[in-house]
Amino acid sequence: MSTTPNFLILAVLLLIAGCAHDDTRHPTHSAVAPGGPAAVEAERALALAEAGDAGRGKGAYAVCSACHQPSGLGKRDGSTPKLAGQHATVLIKQITDIRGDVRVVPTMHGFVRELRDPRDIADVAAYIESLCNPPGNGRYGLSDADARISEGRQLFARDCADCHRDTGQGDKAKGYPVLAGQHFRYLVRQMQDIRDGYRKAADPDMVKIIRKHGNDKLQSIAAYLASLETPGTACEPIRAGR
Ligand code: HEC
Ligand code: HEC
Repeated sequence: MSTTPNFLILAVLLLIAGCAHDDTRHPTHSAVAPGGPAAVEAERALALAEAGDAGRGKGAYAVCSACHQPSGLGKRDGSTPKLAGQHATVLIKQITDIRGDVRVVPTMHGFVRELRDPRDIADVAAYIESLCNPPGNGRYGLSDADARISEGRQLFARDCADCHRDTGQGDKAKGYPVLAGQHFRYLVRQMQDIRDGYRKAADPDMVKIIRKHGNDKLQSIAAYLASLETPGTACEPIRAGR
């Protein structure tokens, strides 16, 4: 009888496939925050209530700069976002979400857990917000760039500018992120993640709007946003010490 061995082989293969599947990318992955989403909210409220001292935050940023760069530019290939110029309110939201696994970023989780308390979180956010805007973000580079950017401009004005504002500068008081001057590939990935349910703490009204768009339209919006300058003071990138 060959049914039993076949069945066993199938079971083993399924087990291997199951292990290879990256669970952290599953949209229904449940948050395992100690204390749950309520604790994330509580920590965020405390951090937002802090004044935020950029001078103190500079020390805490040293560990972040390994990936996000000393300048806060991140990586042009979009694997790591540009942080410089982002609103402190948005940074605090994302840091607390990532600390609590509400937004799942396994590579960064341990580093933001090292921030000791809400004051540390507010300080590092204040430091990042104070950075000048480093040039050279990753942009859309193919030959149809002009057509894409103009299509993206129209889609953005119609569907996204209510919250992210007319040139993607966001809104600090409301916690709407700056999108202008972010890396093209990072923007595309985040839009897809938001649409497909991987960023569970994303604004539900935005999720409804983004769901209408296929990858092609999202790429056009990202091409437009990546072609803009991040608001704030422009600067030359700070060179990492060698
Ligand atoms: C090991 C590399 C690494 C380190 C170290 C790191 N990050 Fe990140 N960070 C990332 C990556 C990768 C992402 C994007 C994750 C994704 O694609 O969803 C990210 C995303 C973020 C975001 C979200 C940005 C946005 O636009 O939504 C913030 C805020 C952030 N990091 C802050 C920090 C801070 C503060 C530190 C230091 C305490 C830090 N990071 C350390 C890799 C890192
Ligand atoms: C109802 C207000 C609202 C609308 C409309 C909206 N957004 Fe957002 N968007 C937000 C908020 C709030 C966040 C922060 C989400 C979070 O906390 O994770 C965000 C985050 C994002 C991010 C992630 C930024 C980052 O740095 O990680 C992208 C990309 C984005 N939005 C693109 C879009 C696009 C494209 C549209 C239009 C198709 C759109 N949004 C429409 C409110 C909105």
